Amino acid sequence: MKKKIIIISSTILLIIIGIAITIFINSKKLQVILKKNLEIDINEKIYNIDNIQKIKNGNIISKKKLINTSKIGKQQITIDIKNFFGQKEKYTYTIKVIDNKKPTITYNKELQTEKGTEIDLLKDVKVEDNSKEEIKVSIEGEYDFNTPGTYNLKYVAKDSSNNETKEEFTLTVTEKQIEESPQNNTFTTAKGFKGYTKDGITYIDGYLIANKTYSLPSTYNPGLDGNVQNKANIMFEAARNEGYNIFISSGFRSYNTQNILYNNYVARDGQAAADTYSARPGHSEHQSGLAFDVNEVSDAFNNTPEANWLANNCYKYGFILRYPKGKTNETGYMYESWHFRYVGEELASKLYNGGNWITLETYFGITSNYN
Ligand code: DAL
Ligand code: ZN
Repeated sequence: MKKKIIIISSTILLIIIGIAITIFINSKKLQVILKKNLEIDINEKIYNIDNIQKIKNGNIISKKKLINTSKIGKQQITIDIKNFFGQKEKYTYTIKVIDNKKPTITYNKELQTEKGTEIDLLKDVKVEDNSKEEIKVSIEGEYDFNTPGTYNLKYVAKDSSNNETKEEFTLTVTEKQIEESPQNNTFTTAKGFKGYTKDGITYIDGYLIANKTYSLPSTYNPGLDGNVQNKANIMFEAARNEGYNIFISSGFRSYNTQNILYNNYVARDGQAAADTYSARPGHSEHQSGLAFDVNEVSDAFNNTPEANWLANNCYKYGFILRYPKGKTNETGYMYESWHFRYVGEELASKLYNGGNWITLETYFGITSNYN
């Protein structure tokens, strides 16, 4: 009887010990927690152990090694781990190399050529992509080097994972420029000033003229003149010291930009109305790089403290109020309190005329109309 009791109790004890050992071993089992995102970008620099978030009951014994991520697809990575009991275990996990980044295209937004002169539209185009593969760029849209006009086209680049980038650009085919010999194009204005045209640009008494009568070549693209920018900065600084906030809101405008702007106005208001306030492409003083608009480009700017300050002080810095009030017959444009043109201090003082502005047209004895 006693013996029986001893055997039963020993058995129970052994079972309890067995359970305890099992629980202990289980609690010391190796546990590897991986990072949530195992999708790796192609050519991303990543190490074999980087994808492991945490290890319980063990230590990594593998050396840190770069994973080859140059190919798209699944890949198994195996690392060696020493578990709690000092034994070496292999742990394998799967990553997926993907490519969902679009190629980037660097290009010129505006291309231009003359009628009949073909240019390589892909010449300055560069594509980059994380796949590092060679990507061909194609052109979407129709164009014709023999038909003048502005064509809206797109560059298209697609990588082998079908990530596609499209970028818009314009091709402007201009009319053939008629060659002019610089010497022969001299003339005298109604007021006796000497004028000439050189490279399609008209100068009177040495001053570049851009109005409805005198145009600029579509290829003339000088940007805002550096001296004009400096003088403007000096003028704005002087205004600031007196408490006025003046800034350029539209400076240089290319032939193309003016073309788009003008055509938008024509579509909105009709050509006759548009011609009273917007220059046709090639006729804008903004394309000369010598003129700019300040602050709010609308009648709301009229009679503001800033507009009044400029009208009374701009000549000191070489600028003129180009389209004064009541001079539409001379300039061809309605009053623009915001548009200023640089002519230098000497001529600006004359045109200021004590506050009774004289227009460039009247001063030189020239017209401003489309004929
Ligand atoms: N608003 C002026 C006239 C221009 O378009 O150049
Ligand atoms: Zn303007």
